[in-house]
Amino acid sequence: MLRTQFKSWGRGCQSPCLGNANSSEGGLIAARDARNHFAQRCKLPGPLTPKGLSDPTRRKQCKASVDGGNTSSALYNEDVRLYDLSVSFRDFEEEVDFLQEVVEKHVGQPLKSALELASGPGCHAVALARRGVEVVALDNEEAMVAYGLAKANAEGVKMDYICGDMASFDSIPTKDGKVQLVYLLFGSVAHLLTNDDFIACLNSCRSVLAPNGIIVLELQHPNDVFKATELTGDAWEVNDTERESMLLVEWGRDTDEFDAISQVLQRHISFNVISKKGEIVSSKEVVLPQRLYTANEIDALARVCGFDIVQHCGALDLAVPLDDEQQACRMVVILKPQA
Ligand SMILES: C[S@@+](CC[C@H](N)C(=O)[O-])C[C@H]1O[C@@H](n2cnc3c(N)ncnc32)[C@H](O)[C@@H]1O
Repeated sequence: MLRTQFKSWGRGCQSPCLGNANSSEGGLIAARDARNHFAQRCKLPGPLTPKGLSDPTRRKQCKASVDGGNTSSALYNEDVRLYDLSVSFRDFEEEVDFLQEVVEKHVGQPLKSALELASGPGCHAVALARRGVEVVALDNEEAMVAYGLAKANAEGVKMDYICGDMASFDSIPTKDGKVQLVYLLFGSVAHLLTNDDFIACLNSCRSVLAPNGIIVLELQHPNDVFKATELTGDAWEVNDTERESMLLVEWGRDTDEFDAISQVLQRHISFNVISKKGEIVSSKEVVLPQRLYTANEIDALARVCGFDIVQHCGALDLAVPLDDEQQACRMVVILKPQA
């Protein structure tokens, strides 16, 4: 199997620098080496070399005290703050700049209304609401909805947050029931496990999209699918200043099962909280099924639903083409209803 040494969200992007997390040396340690090696190429979310995980006994203890379950709820519903922290290395303001620029370019108007699907903690939705955009967020985990709404309240911004399935909604609470933009970021398309789910999601989007509206999808870079780097593990660390600890995120393992026909990967994800003393405070592990999509599949499925791809980008940046260069780290697809 072909493998690259670091992964999609790290390919020149502002993201954790990721390594093969499951070598013979042991997952996170190997990942940390890769992280150091590539530190010059990526803006890393935080320094740190926790003592705990370099000690094999502690690693064992870590695995033994896993308290998660094998459902996505265990990851997305039980401790939303940890999920929020795990992805906090991103620059949400820059990403939201991109959403506004895309709408100006492809809709021909300033962004006034948007729907975020699988919005999790709602960081983009809150940032857009702060800029005066009428925003609705949607997620199927109640805890995410409560967390996102609390975040909006704390910032004093107005935003609607629906608890629902992105593959089956037909109305949203905006003034005219429509939006100029629907967006689905950070690989969350992978939660649409089948072609039917994807089609149902696009049909739902169509029912709330203004006539000239667009859909923005951010997926893994094609190299990650074709070079199978999506099938290897990642790991990164985030400093938790609030709890004076370190969150170690393990995102996939080499041994994760991949179904070649459905293209669904059973991704092991673990969140390990390490104290300043290097002790493991808590550890959660889940197995999350995720569908890997190629560019051609997105194109075919979009056309089935009456959409065309109007642009591909290699990052959340209109100036970055989708190619094999270092700065192209994701596959961003912009869809518009066919005329
Ligand atoms: C990787 S997180 C992404 C969150 C956010 N978009 C971000 O950029 O950080 C994926 C989110 O998708 C949600 N999700 C998974 N399946 C879903 C579905 N069928 N409908 C709505 N939300 C879903 C999860 O609860 C989780 O909050």
